[in-house]
Amino acid sequence: MGVDVLLGLQWGDEGKGKIVDVLAPRYQVVARFQGGPNAGHTLEFDGIKHVLHQIPSGIFRADIRNIIGNGVVLDPVIFKKEADALSKYNLDLRGNLHISKKAALIIPSHRLLDAAYEREKGEHRIGSTLKGIGPAYADKVSRLGLRVGDVLSPGFRRKYEGLKASHEAILQFHRFEYDLAAAEAEFFACVDFMKEFHLVDSEYLINEALRTQQTILAEGAQGSLLDIDFGSYPYVTSSSTMAAGACTGLGVAPRHIAEVYGIFKAYCTRVGGGPFPTEQLNDIGEALRKEGNEYGATTGRPRRCGWLDLPALKYAMMINGVTRLVMMKADVLNGFDEIRVCTHYRLADGTVTEQLPHDLLEGTVEPVYQTFKGWKTDLKDVHHFGQLPEALARYVSFLEETLGLPINFLSTGPDRVATLQREAVLG
Ligand code: GDP
Ligand code: IMO
Ligand code: MG
Repeated sequence: MGVDVLLGLQWGDEGKGKIVDVLAPRYQVVARFQGGPNAGHTLEFDGIKHVLHQIPSGIFRADIRNIIGNGVVLDPVIFKKEADALSKYNLDLRGNLHISKKAALIIPSHRLLDAAYEREKGEHRIGSTLKGIGPAYADKVSRLGLRVGDVLSPGFRRKYEGLKASHEAILQFHRFEYDLAAAEAEFFACVDFMKEFHLVDSEYLINEALRTQQTILAEGAQGSLLDIDFGSYPYVTSSSTMAAGACTGLGVAPRHIAEVYGIFKAYCTRVGGGPFPTEQLNDIGEALRKEGNEYGATTGRPRRCGWLDLPALKYAMMINGVTRLVMMKADVLNGFDEIRVCTHYRLADGTVTEQLPHDLLEGTVEPVYQTFKGWKTDLKDVHHFGQLPEALARYVSFLEETLGLPINFLSTGPDRVATLQREAVLG
């Protein structure tokens, strides 16, 4: 027994929310370990679609303890909105949700800083979700930030004013106009709301759960190619999105990490700026966007779309030590005559490589593709791997051979029931 980690192997939005929901009955604890309201995790069941930003995706199961870990950045305003939206479902949020006192707090001026920095970057902007993620993590690392536990201290208002003043100095330097008054009033009301929840030292909870042999799932946000160290820097988010992030983001020792579920789409998407070697700025990209409904769950922005990128996928599997693969959105490719997969990159000097070059940013890689015949079949009535249309079975076998791991789950639609599982592999 140990902590299983579930994370995205691409640029986010792989379908992590759906698979956490599918796997949740096997777990007693579900914990978010990084990211914040930049995440948008979609769950669909009983004809209802839910999008979670900060609350772990195990929240719909009554017997699961959900934890927002210390590695998360939490915005009390967005938290209250999420909690309010869930109130009609009769969930015991106050009983089942625990928030780490060490999680970093996003205050309203963090969002302003995000906007000011993005404006400054002009055409080189990251395409941030503008939720204040980068500035909140920067304050954490600069040892200036506020944490959830601070809201319980009598000195909270004073600490808040100090941090806000330092932000205002930066905003003035950037000549960024703002009006904080309304946002601040809302913020303090939402901080009071947050105090109604269990604010805890969650590392004790998790380690006690480990000691008592409970099953624990760590839910990643974003994706490996957005990781602060290994992603396409600087077009990344500001946290450690990889399996190692679950250790620092929850207070779990590396030896306790068990399975690592790596999730990828049967193709590729990205929101925001930055390199995307297999991007299709053509009818194919349009078709993927339309069929896959590729619009951001947090910002509504159209997602950039392209073919599956195996060098990038192998890289993500390597740095995360993936033990179980999950392929999402196979159904999106149902109508395609041909499906392409990038197997290698050709560099500017003609070298062909399977490795991700450091200067991916300069746009010097040309993808080398292998083409597969499409299956041109609806997957609605496919419930087992054995029922896959031949062309899809071939696509899956090729990926399994190339990636060196079986695909344990294959998702064929947004609903939790549209999920095929390889029983033989999982045991
Ligand atoms: P996350 O951030 O990784 O949780 O993913 P998002 O929720 O941002 O984006 C995934 C989107 O794809 C959501 O709208 C899901 O409802 C949807 N989705 C998940 N799995 C499938 C699938 O197998 N097929 C289709 N067509 N949609 C899916
Ligand atoms: P989930 O958990 C997809 C992207 C943004 C931007 C970059 C930095 O739903 O998969 P930030 O707001 O962190 O400063 O943005 O990262 N990004 C995501 N893209 N899915 C996400 O989360 C993302 N969270 C951030 O679009 O390019
Ligand atoms: Mg998402």
